[in-house]
Amino acid sequence: MNPPDGFVGGFREAAPYINHLRGKTLVIGIAGSLLQGPPLRRLAADLNLIASLGVRLVVVHGSRSQINRLAQADGLTPQYHQGRRITDEATLQYAKQAAGILRSDIEAALYSSFAQSPQRSKPISVASGNFISAKPMGVIDGTDMGYTGLVRKTDTEAVRQRLDDGAIVLISPIGHTLSGKTFNLSMGDIAEAAAVALQAEKLIYLIEQDGILDSDGRLITNLSAEEARRMMAKNQAAPRQERLLRYAVNAVGHGVGRTQILNGNDDGSLIRELFTRHGAGTSVARDAFVRIRQAHHDDIPAIMSLIRPLEEQGILLRRSREYLEDHIGSFSVLEHDRCLYGCVALKTFADPQSAELACLAVSPDAQAGGYGEMLLKHITDQARRKNIRRLFALSTHAGEWFAERGFQTASADDLPEERRRDHVEGGRNSKIFVYPL
Ligand code: COA
Ligand code: ARG
Repeated sequence: MNPPDGFVGGFREAAPYINHLRGKTLVIGIAGSLLQGPPLRRLAADLNLIASLGVRLVVVHGSRSQINRLAQADGLTPQYHQGRRITDEATLQYAKQAAGILRSDIEAALYSSFAQSPQRSKPISVASGNFISAKPMGVIDGTDMGYTGLVRKTDTEAVRQRLDDGAIVLISPIGHTLSGKTFNLSMGDIAEAAAVALQAEKLIYLIEQDGILDSDGRLITNLSAEEARRMMAKNQAAPRQERLLRYAVNAVGHGVGRTQILNGNDDGSLIRELFTRHGAGTSVARDAFVRIRQAHHDDIPAIMSLIRPLEEQGILLRRSREYLEDHIGSFSVLEHDRCLYGCVALKTFADPQSAELACLAVSPDAQAGGYGEMLLKHITDQARRKNIRRLFALSTHAGEWFAERGFQTASADDLPEERRRDHVEGGRNSKIFVYPL
């Protein structure tokens, strides 16, 4: 039988995410620099596609680069304080102008990408409006921020109503006060505030970098809120990335499922982020994305579906459901995004200094990603804590894997008495390895 080709495999991977996101609200903040030419057209097509799957979309656009261009055309240099724009009277006019043009360009791009999708009978409407009320940022360290504002409130009822009507909600980075004054807001602030107010499933930032980068410039694919906080405390992120991390941590700390930060210039990144297991950028979640924990009884069906095919191929020793029920306490499981992708057991013997690393398995679609190694480390740490000195492993197919990780060849005579008996009687002729701890 042939393995599924790329399309079938990809579709199977995407289907659970499609089902999960149907009816959920996503708030997507898009940097202004991405909202022109081909990147805008590609993003609009992908937003249309995602909305057509029944996902409720709130799009917040930025306008930083557009405002800068308008100011520079008039010979003015944009002024910033602590990374925030200082908005004087002239800059406020540019901000309003940029928001108007961008809103119209985004609506046009969404409309024309609909025209190119023949399966759709009518375009998704776009709803804009005064959903965000503002308050002045005021004077910071002696610097008057002028018409730069902060989000005061999101009109969640109005937004929800538009979403219920099937519209994509489009929010510009402009807000008003009750006294009728207009303030220039930041896309990042609005997206975070709206995601929290709407208790969105996801807050997504499309930026010009691949996501959050480490000190060597490499993409960090997953962060728990705790890890993100630690990065900020150690000043490990560049100022703009630091602000994104702050939004992410704040949002997931206030009930948003996950914050995802990715490169909007990279064609298809949004689709990959949402509908593949590994995504395309950085995902910040409240808890660790990949974790190993003690197995419990509810895990037995998932463990069985992981190990049965391997048992049938003779790779793993057969274990009945009853065996798993009786010995579940010795199993640990590896979860990736709350799905079970691996397991391992620490089997102990009458000899308190010996134990066996048993039933190590990683789901075939997640192999070669380091999970086997993580499970191995987990079990060696566990064995060390139990003062075990010799960790055995018996394998018919993965001998090389153990040998490359420091296991030494051993013989049946080295095994604890009861394991030697099983080994001989079982007739599986497994290779025996031992890891001195
Ligand atoms: N023999 C030798 N090397 C192997 C191997 C095997 N049977 N299976 C995987 N590898 C290599 C991969 O090629 C990869 O090498 P690379 O990094 O040079 O590309 C590396 O090991 C992957 O390591 P890692 O990602 O940490 O492991 P994994 O998550 O793929 O899991 C196993 C490794 C062995 C647990 C997994 O292949 C598995 O579930 N096998 C079936 C069950 C089994 O044999 N269990 C052991 C008996 S208890
Ligand atoms: N598609 C999944 C989601 O939307 C997983 C994404 C994982 N992304 C990452 N950058 N690690 O939640």
